Amino acid sequence: MQASAQGAHAYDHEHRRFIDYIMAYGPLFFGHTHPALTKGVDELVAGGWVWGSTHPEEIRLARRIRSYLPIMERMRFVTTGTEAVMSAIRVARAYTNRNLVLKFAGNYHGHFDLALFDAGASAHTSDAGRGGIPAGVMADVVVARYNDLASVDALLRERGNELACIIVEPIVGNMGYVTPIEGFLSGLRERCDRLNAVLIFDEVITWLRFGLAGAQARVAVTPDMTTLGKIMGGGAPIAAFGGRAEIMRVLAPDGPCFTGGTHGGNPLSVAMAHRVLDLLETHPEYYDRMDALGADLAEGLRAIFSRRGLPYAVVHHESVVDFKFRPGPPNRNYDDARAADKALYSRYYWAMRERGILLPPSQNEVMFLSTAHTAEDIDETLAAVDESLGAVL
Ligand SMILES: Cc1ncc(COP(=O)(O)O)c(C=O)c1O
Repeated sequence: MQASAQGAHAYDHEHRRFIDYIMAYGPLFFGHTHPALTKGVDELVAGGWVWGSTHPEEIRLARRIRSYLPIMERMRFVTTGTEAVMSAIRVARAYTNRNLVLKFAGNYHGHFDLALFDAGASAHTSDAGRGGIPAGVMADVVVARYNDLASVDALLRERGNELACIIVEPIVGNMGYVTPIEGFLSGLRERCDRLNAVLIFDEVITWLRFGLAGAQARVAVTPDMTTLGKIMGGGAPIAAFGGRAEIMRVLAPDGPCFTGGTHGGNPLSVAMAHRVLDLLETHPEYYDRMDALGADLAEGLRAIFSRRGLPYAVVHHESVVDFKFRPGPPNRNYDDARAADKALYSRYYWAMRERGILLPPSQNEVMFLSTAHTAEDIDETLAAVDESLGAVL
C-alpha cells in the first residue's frame, strides 16, 4: 500500500490514519486535497508545465497580490520561500550598496547560507561554521534577539552604516508561536528609516494564514519588501518576493542585480495560486471556522493542563495552536524556545503518534489547523493528548 493523505488525515503505507497537524509545515491551509484545488489539474497542465516566458496569468496574479499587499508594487515569482528570501536580501544589498544583514535568532528564512545562523524551525544551526557555511558569509550577518530593540541597537551601534536590511518574521511561527511586543516592529521600521536600510517582512508562513492582507495589516507596520510562499500555492511550489518599485528597480534588466529560476512563475503553480485566492475570496467564513476550532483545541488543552497541574501556556491565534513544555508565559524569543524540555517533547511526540496524531517533530514548530479539520478531529486529539501526557509524565 502507498502512503497517502486526504483532508486533515495522513495515511502511512499500512493505511494507519493520522490526524495531521504538520500540514506540510504550512501550505495546506485547506487540508491535503481540497476538491477546488485538486479537480481538473490535467486541464491546468494541458497547455504545458513550464514556459520560461512571462504570461498573462502571472501578471494577473501579481495584480491580485498587489491589491491585498500594496507594498508589493513590483514582484517576482520563484519556487520556494528560500529563494524568495535569498533574492529579497540580494535586492536589498544591491539597492543600498551595503552588505550587512540583521536577522533574529529563532526566525527561519530558508536554508541558504546566511539564513542559517541561529535559525529556528527544525534547522540545526548550533555550529554553522562547521556546517558548510564559509566564514566570509558570517562576516556580513548579525543576529539579534526577537522582541528586544536593545539587542538590535547593540549590534547596530558599531555597524549601522553598513546595514543593508533587517529581515524579520512579523509574527513568528518558527520558535513556537511568537507575537511582536508593542513597539518592536515599529522600532525596526524607525531604525531602517534612520539608517536608510530596507525592512523585509518574511510572510512565507503568515500571508493568507492571517488573512489576505497578511501579518503586515495586523501589525500595522509597513515593510519595504515582503516575501511570500507556502499557502500561496495551496501545495504547489510557488513563492514571491517584491516591494517598493524604487527598490525592485535594481533588478535586471533595469538594474545590475540578477535573480532567476527555471520554474519561477510556471503556469501550473500560478494557476494553483489563483485557485487559492479564489477559494479565500469566496469563503471568508473559513477563517472564522478555523478560529472557532482552534479555540476549542486551545481550551481543551488548557483544561487538561489545569486538571493535571501543568504550568504550560497555550497560545491560540486563528488556525495556529501552540504550547511548549516550559513553565511560564508563552515564548517571546528564541531563549524561551530553547528553554523548553526537548526530551519530554520527544516522548510526547511519539506517544501522540502511537495514538494517531501527527505533530511536528521539532518543538520549535506549531500545530496548524486546516479547513478540513473537524470537531471530531479535535475531540480525538484532546483524548490523545490526555492519554499521552499520562503516559509520558
Ligand atoms: C518564515 C519562513 N520563511 C522562509 C521559509 C523557507 O521556505 P521554503 O521551505 O519554501 O524554502 C520558511 C519555511 O519554513 C519559513 O517558515
